[in-house]
Amino acid sequence: MPKIAILPDLLINKIAAGEIIERPASVVRELIDNSIDAGAKKIIVEALHGGKKLIKVSDDGAGMSREDALLCLERHATSKIKSDDDLFNISTLGFRGEALPSIASVSKLTLITSAVNSGAGTKIEISGGKEKNITEAPPFAGTSVEVRDIFYNVPARRKFLKTIPTELSHIIDTVLQKAFPCFKTAFTLKHNNSDIINVHAVKSLKERFIQLYGEELSGEFIKVKKDAGHMKLYGFLFEVKKDAGHMKLYGFLSSLDFTRAGKSYQYIFVNRRAVKNPTVNHAAYAAYSGLIPKDRHPAFFLFLDIDPQKVDVNVHPAKREVRFETPEEIHRLVESAVYDALRGGAVSGAQDKGVSNASVPGFTYLRPSGSGFYNPFVVQEQRAEDFQPGFFAEGDFARHRYLHIGECFIAAISGNGFTVIDQHAAHERVLYEKYLKKTAIETENLFLPVRVELPPREFNIIMNHKSLLNDFGLVVEEFGGHDVIIKTIPRELGKADLKGLLLDIASGIIEEEGTGVKGAPQQDRLAHGIAARLACHKSVRGSEPLNEMELSKLLSDLDKTESPDKCPHGRPTRIFFTLDELRKMFKRK
Ligand SMILES: Nc1ncnc2c1ncn2[C@@H]1O[C@H](COP(=O)(O)OP(=O)(O)OP(=O)(O)O)[C@@H](O)[C@H]1O
Ligand SMILES: [Mg+2]
Repeated sequence: MPKIAILPDLLINKIAAGEIIERPASVVRELIDNSIDAGAKKIIVEALHGGKKLIKVSDDGAGMSREDALLCLERHATSKIKSDDDLFNISTLGFRGEALPSIASVSKLTLITSAVNSGAGTKIEISGGKEKNITEAPPFAGTSVEVRDIFYNVPARRKFLKTIPTELSHIIDTVLQKAFPCFKTAFTLKHNNSDIINVHAVKSLKERFIQLYGEELSGEFIKVKKDAGHMKLYGFLFEVKKDAGHMKLYGFLSSLDFTRAGKSYQYIFVNRRAVKNPTVNHAAYAAYSGLIPKDRHPAFFLFLDIDPQKVDVNVHPAKREVRFETPEEIHRLVESAVYDALRGGAVSGAQDKGVSNASVPGFTYLRPSGSGFYNPFVVQEQRAEDFQPGFFAEGDFARHRYLHIGECFIAAISGNGFTVIDQHAAHERVLYEKYLKKTAIETENLFLPVRVELPPREFNIIMNHKSLLNDFGLVVEEFGGHDVIIKTIPRELGKADLKGLLLDIASGIIEEEGTGVKGAPQQDRLAHGIAARLACHKSVRGSEPLNEMELSKLLSDLDKTESPDKCPHGRPTRIFFTLDELRKMFKRK
């Protein structure tokens, strides 16, 4: 008896589903892809309980005949490719013929479909990939697929599903990623019967951007466009046209004032497919380098249209990655398009790439250049060796006179040397510890509550963490659509950019929840993250020079903190130069 056996089809489907279907949002992705490939003009996504109970995607696309409907649930049944050659020339979103049988093997699926102009439709019900029940349905144009109780027969996977808000947030992100490039299609997303996204068909990508992210956000973006024959790259605000004949790049880049603390709002679409791609990503960062602080991140939505023969889309089970035939060429295209777009006016005054931060208007917060990027939600521990005990033994350097150096440094003489303080980093540390204590937060009820429109995903996250924000003195309430009103803020926030703050907090929460850590450690990290962002926002915006009294207070407050030598992100707040060090520098020792 051989030890090796060919696995039954049902088990093969379940294994494939393991790679393709990770969570409800994966079902949404696959079903929307099918609707787009079927030429739908309108796609409606409905979900119940974060998609764990139900996901339904209906479209008005080409539909299927009864024969095709029966075939589409078979493994490797596809209308999209026929030969080897087709595999390297894919212009549809689907191509493997695996999505529907995979979904069917791990859920209770009902498919209703009807080809345009056919006399009758077909309804197929199937549970766990078995026992198909086939009946006739009234004719209509299109397809609707209902997926109930995902992973009901794979308990090991069902238990990995996250909370309803987290699963919903993945669904929202998926619908946004699908709806953005396909602007000629109308998209609706309903969750528990209320509308989350509802956008009609529009004529341009920019209109879709405004529909999805709001006019305000789109104002922060620069247009970029490059056409190189087999590739296109496109984007917003300042248009750059370069035609190299075979590729095109277009998209939206954040202006230099709109940098973020995290990497949210970084989207790359290759032939309408949202992907992660280190080549494009690196090229975009390379173009921004020297123009934005090292620890801030640009936002970009870059669309690359490329000859399907030059890109392999069959390299990732969830199709989240692609491989380019000539990555160097892509890198050059993206870097030069982004670089030109930034120089084309977005830098609002800065003429050259490589211009120092100090000469770029819009930067109020100049941080010392550190290594790489930081995530404010990862609060770094203070290293014992960074602290020099005894130097401020009296804790009284605040009594000394100060010298302002540049926009944010202060030098203070102390007994056996001098200290250079980064005013903003110091302020951040003081506020951060104050916010962490929560009880010490003084709040201010806004005389005129501030109304802010948020993108759907961020709106959902903020509303689900309302009570957590409340603990930090930030009272936020729902105000119809995706608008929130901010009624109360921590006093120091004053005129801070409250929308930017909510977006930063939301992206931090999304990143944090993505780590999969749960329970008390997660709550703790969320609290640290929110405190750090509140502190950072005040500090970033608060660039006004402090007078002597304010400086004194800041320095004595800093001295009272638990980690006075580092800001919440781990950068130094103050650096000590002892007399001994000075002697060494001047070769007197
Ligand atoms: N909404 C739809 N409208 C019309 N035809 C559809 C729809 N959904 C699926 N089909 C048909 O069923 C086939 C199988 O769909 P399925 O998603 O399983 O595979 P695929 O899209 O071909 O490839 P992939 O596995 O990469 O998604 C498709 O090739 C298409 O012909
Ligand atoms: Mg498909």
